[in-house]
Amino acid sequence: MEEKKKVIFSGIQPSGNLTIGNYFGALKNWVKLQDKYDCYFCVVDLHAITVRQEPKDLRRRTLEVLAIYLAAGIDPEKNTIFIQSHVPTHCEAAWLLNCFTYVGELERMTQYKSKSKKYENGGSISAGLLNYPVLMAADILIYNADLVPVGKDQTQHVELTRDIAERFNNLYSPTFTMPEAYIPEDGAKIMDLQDPTKKMSKSSDNPNSYILIMDKPEDIKRKINRCVTDSIGKVKYNDDQPGVKNLINIMSAVTGMSHEEIEKKYEGKGYAEFKNDTAEALIGELKPIQDKVNAFLQDKKYLEDIYKKGAEKAYYVSSKVLRKMQKKIGFIPVSK
Ligand code: AMP
Ligand code: TRP
Repeated sequence: MEEKKKVIFSGIQPSGNLTIGNYFGALKNWVKLQDKYDCYFCVVDLHAITVRQEPKDLRRRTLEVLAIYLAAGIDPEKNTIFIQSHVPTHCEAAWLLNCFTYVGELERMTQYKSKSKKYENGGSISAGLLNYPVLMAADILIYNADLVPVGKDQTQHVELTRDIAERFNNLYSPTFTMPEAYIPEDGAKIMDLQDPTKKMSKSSDNPNSYILIMDKPEDIKRKINRCVTDSIGKVKYNDDQPGVKNLINIMSAVTGMSHEEIEKKYEGKGYAEFKNDTAEALIGELKPIQDKVNAFLQDKKYLEDIYKKGAEKAYYVSSKVLRKMQKKIGFIPVSK
């Protein structure tokens, strides 16, 4: 008998345009997982509205993120690819789990603390921003996911998911699989081009600090040429040169060259040539992806077929777990 594959769940918010951080840190690794695992890759639009979104931008970006998943090589035949708001079990389960989560736990989340500072418009922080990790817990638990590929910043949310799952399992009886954060060793962390001590983020206010997957070649060149380095003038991989280190990481993520090979290649050469080559390599990597994204976005029917099929499968699988939860809590089933 064929052994049951482990389940993976992950998602990206359509809250901004995706950066090369999302690409090298998340998508490229997802592609490597698709044969070995039963993967659910979700466009988490419900998470995106924890901060205000322009409706037409949200619509455009949601489809664009889906198209980027496909263009990056995530195969809709092998994986379940869907849009979170299409599958109502996520919200239903999130409500239930809210009642098994403590406000104190949510207030302790680092991301909540930093985001609530940033979006503190007149003191109005939405309850959604606080409850965001509960929705994330629901995403993960209703598929009984074993592994959750995320960046380091999200591990705290996965830990909380485990706490909630354990609480529920102990109160009733084993219901949820205990998920684990999965941080691929070779997943590159890409830093901000203007402040290389910070992670590159699509929510940064300064467009020169990030490169988008969909950026034009001339923008990529300009952003890399202007990125912050140092006055040391040597292409060396070390913590005293965070800007150069970041470029080496980008170059390495694109070409597969090791840090040492890159150092060697640019020994005795200035930053200009290194930056130029990094930009060219990156443009070469992104161009075919951009072309595919644009082609997918022209074919709305194809995208629709994929997200419909994905939502059906996701609903089918997650409903079973949701029904289990409801039954254990003591709700009366409508019918058998
Ligand atoms: P976010 O953009 O915060 O919604 O993140 C979506 C996924 O991309 C998560 O798994 C992140 O860890 C990953 N990611 C985002 N930014 C970066 C970055 N600068 N470097 C590496 N991975 C990243
Ligand atoms: N919170 C994650 C992020 O910002 C996105 C996300 C939502 C997610 N639900 C998830 C990631 C479930 C993994 C699993 O990156």
